[in-house]
Amino acid sequence: MSFPSLLQLVHFLLFISTFHSALGIQCYRCLPKAVPNTGNQTNSLEPCSKFDGSSPFVIDCPLSTFCMKRNFTLEFPDGRNAIVTERGCAQQSFSYRVLKRGQWQTVNDVNETIYQDGCILEHQGTKPPTQYCYCSSRLCNAATPVQLSSNLLVYLIFPLVYYVL
Ligand SMILES: *[C@@H]1O[C@H](CO)[C@@H](O)[C@H](O)[C@H]1NC(C)=O
Ligand SMILES: *[C@@H]1O[C@H](CO)[C@@H](O)[C@H](O)[C@H]1NC(C)=O
Ligand SMILES: *[C@@H]1O[C@H](CO)[C@@H](O)[C@H](O)[C@H]1NC(C)=O
Repeated sequence: MSFPSLLQLVHFLLFISTFHSALGIQCYRCLPKAVPNTGNQTNSLEPCSKFDGSSPFVIDCPLSTFCMKRNFTLEFPDGRNAIVTERGCAQQSFSYRVLKRGQWQTVNDVNETIYQDGCILEHQGTKPPTQYCYCSSRLCNAATPVQLSSNLLVYLIFPLVYYVL
């Protein structure tokens, strides 16, 4: 048996790296409201009200093949509400326990077929349905769906309210 040539080794490493890059994806991430940065944070914690598609909103999703965007209604204690958006990595990783050589081990896996490109509405009781949108190309979760609040004024001042709080 001969040693693998350098070329074979390079091919092997390329194969491994393409295999891995097929899994990770870059997505936009933003939150329904501002979260204070603890100083340790590498991922974006920017609120979606400031979303402009710039680099602070970009994160790596090593365990996803889809990006996600969803809208939902935020209810204030005084009865007002606003439709807010959230962007991020699609949740696709799951773990399970297997018995290997007499020991239980946790295996992490990624379900690559759990979502399809497109949007779905999820109904929860009498609340307006949450819209989940999934897409599978780099930085594909930018678009803002047309959002109509029952109280447009509240929706417009909502970002201001959140800065004050
Ligand atoms: C920063 O991260 C390290 C390791 O993850 C953790 O131990 C530490 O508590 C974190 N510090 C803050 C301020 O969050
Ligand atoms: C989210 O968007 C969809 C489609 O625009 C809409 O039908 C739905 O009511 C919205 N959900 C909330 C909670 O506002
Ligand atoms: C992935 O998700 C799909 C849809 O929910 C499901 O049918 C399938 O069994 C899952 N695959 C694995 C490996 O869990």
